[in-house]
Amino acid sequence: MPTIDVIILAAGDGSRMKSKTPKVLQQLSDKTLLQHVIDAALPLDANLNIVIGHGAKLVKGSVLNQDVNWVVQKEQLGTGHAVQQVMPDIDDNSVCLVLYGDVPLIQSITLSMLIEKAADSGFALLSVVLKNPDGYGRIKRNATGEIIAIVEQKDASERELEINEISTGIVAVKASLLRNYLNNLTTNNAQGELYLTDIVEMANANSVNISSFICDSAKQVMGVNDKNQLAELERVIQQKQVAEFMTGGLGVKDPARFDCRGKLSFGKDCVIDINVVFEGNNTLGDNVTIAPNCIIKNAKIGDNSEIKANSIIEDSTVGSNTTIGPFARLRPESRIGNNAKIGNFVEVKKSTIGDASKVSHHSYVGDSTLGKGVNVGAGVITCNYDGANKYQTVIKDGAFIGSDTQLIAPVTIGKNATIGAGSTITKDVPDESLSLSRNKQTTLGNWKRPTKNST
Ligand code: UD1
Ligand code: CA
Repeated sequence: MPTIDVIILAAGDGSRMKSKTPKVLQQLSDKTLLQHVIDAALPLDANLNIVIGHGAKLVKGSVLNQDVNWVVQKEQLGTGHAVQQVMPDIDDNSVCLVLYGDVPLIQSITLSMLIEKAADSGFALLSVVLKNPDGYGRIKRNATGEIIAIVEQKDASERELEINEISTGIVAVKASLLRNYLNNLTTNNAQGELYLTDIVEMANANSVNISSFICDSAKQVMGVNDKNQLAELERVIQQKQVAEFMTGGLGVKDPARFDCRGKLSFGKDCVIDINVVFEGNNTLGDNVTIAPNCIIKNAKIGDNSEIKANSIIEDSTVGSNTTIGPFARLRPESRIGNNAKIGNFVEVKKSTIGDASKVSHHSYVGDSTLGKGVNVGAGVITCNYDGANKYQTVIKDGAFIGSDTQLIAPVTIGKNATIGAGSTITKDVPDESLSLSRNKQTTLGNWKRPTKNST
């Protein structure tokens, strides 16, 4: 196989997106459009050249791969002009594969086949037949079916507009030929640009046999020019993925209302109710249930645990046989043990909650370590922040914290200690003790409530 140079065009501003973000940085599932294209190119084992221009710094900074030849196209004078900028860096014996940064679902296997064809014939082009070819360049063939040109929508005649076979923009061409054709491009067209697609007519005039590969999936080669198309491809990704998950045994109440932007692994008999969003890297054990409207990001959830409705879990772990929510929020670095309970309107941050411990109602637990079998009453707050620094709260095994207590950190509550409701605890509490900090109750008999003044 010859050397392969992948050239990804990512310099355009994408005006139809009507966004401050460069088009190729629009997010699709868990990655940018450009990163999808790069990931499809990686298995080809090719040199990677990326043409940037609009938002160049941002685009460059967004890409995870380091081994890239970045080429700046200062002015965006068209797709042909973009490829011209890279040619000085490319060897004549190489095969160039041009990809568009806004065609994100392209598959590596399709690209390999195209490269093989180009290695034989010198020029291979990926096309697709669309019911609605609106906006795309049309493929012109002669009476014997050979490709003779691509005509852009804005330059097409009425008859040409009726052609349903369109150019995906993706071509593989021997570098020596490509260099030659690019040198001869003109701006003699409706947009006054240097069109890459014009090289097809030149190759035909040069008697090069253009081999074509007609892609059988319209989605795979769909370009993303506006927010409608972005949302359409997001659905394509989600539908394909959820179908794979369900085939793998995941219970999903409604696959149309399931989103996973990242990786998800799961055991047997898990059930996901509607409008759950998974982000990042998530792992579910066996028999995990997740109720509606939860956001689960970089979480590990153990066997038989239940996440009740409207809960948010981020960068945290949940043990087995534990319930979370409804309306609970686990912020990063929370570790909830087995047989534990985090109830409604409870926020946990950077804390460890031991096995069989319960924080059932309206509490804030931050920068804390709770042992086993701890019971935290309603409305308990760990006061971890003095306005400048954060401090730790430690609650040892079996402690009982009465409702509406404030624990002023740093503070340690001993083993099996009891805190009376409504206390403000500022000093460490020994094991097996009772602590209270409350005013004595005053009761006045026959109390008359104030009445309104008469005017
Ligand atoms: C292009 C093709 C069209 C094809 C369609 C497929 C041309 C002239 N037209 O049209 O035949 O059917 O893609 O999706 O090639 N870019 C640059 N520099 C530039 C201009 C564009 O890097 O000067 C990049 C853009 O960032 C984008 C890609 O090239 O990633 C395609 O540009 P776009 O303007 O979207 O082309 P289309 O009008 O979609
Ligand atoms: Ca496009």
